Amino acid sequence: KKILFASSETHPLIKTGGLADVAGSLPQALAELGQDVRIIMPNYQAIKNCEPGRYLCTVRVNNCDVNLLETRLPDSNVIVWLVDYPPFFNVPGNPYLDEAGRPWANIGERFALFCRIIVEVAMNRAYLDWRADILHCNDWQTGLAPALLSLELERPATVFTIHNMAYQGLFPGSAYSQLNLPGQLLHPEGLEFHGMLSFIKGGLAYADRITTVSPTYAQEIQTPEFGYGLEGLLAHKQQQLSGIINGIDTTVWDPSSDSYLAHNYTADKLEGKQANKAALQQELGLPIAADVPLFGLIGRLVEQKGIDLVLNCLAEMTTLPMQFALLGSGDKSIEYRLQEFARLYPEKVAVTIGYDERLAHRIEAGADIFLMPSRFEPCGLNQMYSQRYGTIPIVRKTGGLADTVVDALPESIANGTASGIAFNDASAAALIEAIKRSLVLFHNPDIWRQIQRNAMAKDFSWKNSAAQYMTLYDEI
Ligand code: ADP
Ligand code: GLC
Repeated sequence: KKILFASSETHPLIKTGGLADVAGSLPQALAELGQDVRIIMPNYQAIKNCEPGRYLCTVRVNNCDVNLLETRLPDSNVIVWLVDYPPFFNVPGNPYLDEAGRPWANIGERFALFCRIIVEVAMNRAYLDWRADILHCNDWQTGLAPALLSLELERPATVFTIHNMAYQGLFPGSAYSQLNLPGQLLHPEGLEFHGMLSFIKGGLAYADRITTVSPTYAQEIQTPEFGYGLEGLLAHKQQQLSGIINGIDTTVWDPSSDSYLAHNYTADKLEGKQANKAALQQELGLPIAADVPLFGLIGRLVEQKGIDLVLNCLAEMTTLPMQFALLGSGDKSIEYRLQEFARLYPEKVAVTIGYDERLAHRIEAGADIFLMPSRFEPCGLNQMYSQRYGTIPIVRKTGGLADTVVDALPESIANGTASGIAFNDASAAALIEAIKRSLVLFHNPDIWRQIQRNAMAKDFSWKNSAAQYMTLYDEI
């Protein structure tokens, strides 16, 4: 099958979060299953780690001349088509924010243009001699594509994957005519959301199938708490909606070969993990102490990730025998409060503000325990990376966290499935209790080793999930 995979970010070319990891690894897994997959994404100035794009053709949409360039994922045969429109994309900043960290003022125009090109390519009107059987779109940035495609005769089948319902691409109603979108799509069953224009509704209302990135999140988004006003539409379309858990790139995230690490290790040679802990403690200026449990956290510092819960626990955490290494960036007030703790407790808390892939790998390997107390989490990748690295995750029982971590209870410890610690309430008290539970387990080396081995033995590769996408493609 010919599959066009549309995403606003793709690792390692450009990444702000987990969507890039998925876009950089699922197409590869599908290619390994014999599919002809092409990724399409904007040609941002900040793209790196790939051959410069080779010019293919120019396509005119909505009075704009847009170039298509071709490159490949590194160490792979998967072709990436870059949508090159310099006025929008050849500017410094990330896919969503300008250099100063403000959302792009023309973000609607940018991704509307991207969607128009996706449609031209999918319909084989871009002189590429390649016609998609399946268009697979991801998140709101690609939402208009299934909507626009619905107006075409003999169009490819469409899949829309929700990676995060919290980001919907909502614009004032007036944006509709500014973007010059066809009138037939603007109604409450289409792109309109309470008088506004909703990009994500283009995917939800017009795609042949909707997926999200975990079975639990597929249920959750049909409720008001997680659906942000779209729960009704999703519940109505539940026959077309399913949850497929993300896989991870098991070559990029492999403690036995990860070149960022101070020492490589396996489940049978966990001493190597100790060496990573010491190296991390040294790098971050924490006291080098093997017997003090080191907690890690990596992520976007936003409400979703439950950082407020962590902030409300930090004072008490500093009274416990533990260390804490955090890497992230996001909300400025959260960054500031975290840095305050690091300043006050340099022996216990190390905070690195920024985006740093190398350090992310070193924290996954060097920490004993990984905190992920998300308020909601469509899938979450770090809890899977952690398990693969023998770093025991503490997670809130929501979304993909609930689906990928087995809480260490007497029964799961006895039957060899325990792989982390899970708690229910989104409260600081529940998080602290989970942290204390982890400390008790940590100081019981036999049980701890067993949980580490259980976690490291789990298969988080794309094999199963890519096969589930294949089944879905076959159905439509
Ligand atoms: P989300 O997509 O909601 O941000 P995920 O857990 O799915 O959450 O994916 C986040 C990805 O981004 C992971 O690969 C994680 O390691 C990476 N990441 C997040 N913040 C940073 C950071 N500050 N430095 C390096 N990597 C980061
Ligand atoms: C989103 C979600 C995250 C998920 C990622 C990849 O950014 O917040 O939970 O893992 O997409 O699907």
